[in-house]
Amino acid sequence: MRLALLGPPGAGKGTQAVRLAHRLRVTHLSSGDILRSEKSAGTALGMQIRDFIDHGKLVPDALMIRLMENRIAQAPGGFVLDGFPRTLVQAQELARFLDSIRRPLDVVVNFVLDEAILSRRFEGRRVCPVCGSVYHLDTMPPEVPGLCDQDGQALVIRPDDQPEVVKERINTYRRSVEPLVAFYEQKGILVTLNAAGTPNEVTAAVLKLLQDRGAGKNV
Ligand code: AP5
Ligand code: MG
Repeated sequence: MRLALLGPPGAGKGTQAVRLAHRLRVTHLSSGDILRSEKSAGTALGMQIRDFIDHGKLVPDALMIRLMENRIAQAPGGFVLDGFPRTLVQAQELARFLDSIRRPLDVVVNFVLDEAILSRRFEGRRVCPVCGSVYHLDTMPPEVPGLCDQDGQALVIRPDDQPEVVKERINTYRRSVEPLVAFYEQKGILVTLNAAGTPNEVTAAVLKLLQDRGAGKNV
């Protein structure tokens, strides 16, 4: 199964990608997580991309494409892409790359969500600074308040979740999403899904639409 998730910041792409990758037994590839780990490790790449992430701007396409193609090449059993592609150029290059290795995307799920719900998801998000696990104070709280279930680390607010950066991220998303949606619609692999339900409901809805489309034998 080769799946890509589109949707605005805070829509639940990461939350669903973790669950779907586990359920479908494929690799979760989050562009944001990959960039954040480069940034916190202070690598040369991390230094290069730091300002883009901190200001809610997109990292340049060429860099992003190289980074993700490397990871995809190491996931022969399939993958869930979360946060990539994000521009038409990224989508075109990804398609060219996947066609060249005869592993095109099966389905692209486009999460849509009301702005008011998006705001609530941002406001309550807490993340583990070490393993990247994502929680929500109201809807997905950790077992012990303030601590990560996986490694016991103190949870933090993601640095780019400050209101002014969130605004920029949402604006950036709105500017880039239309051509991306049109590109996958034309390929006949785009499915739009309202992501307002509970995490379990959204996961079930994605698995059902994959099944309905006959995509993926492990669903
Ligand atoms: P990235 O990390 O991809 O951030 P994003 O797209 O802004 O999305 P988020 O991670 O904020 O939200 P999400 O949809 O994953 O929601 P989540 O599951 O956490 O990118 C960060 C930055 O990296 C970009 O700004 C850019 O600089 C750079 N970048 C990344 N990819 C790039 C690319 N391809 N090209 C160029 N630059 C790139 O959920 C949100 C909250 O809601 C959580 O608290 C969660 O617990 C909760 N929640 C989730 N689902 C539900 C539900 N169903 N019900 C209730 N609560 C829920
Ligand atoms: Mg995410």
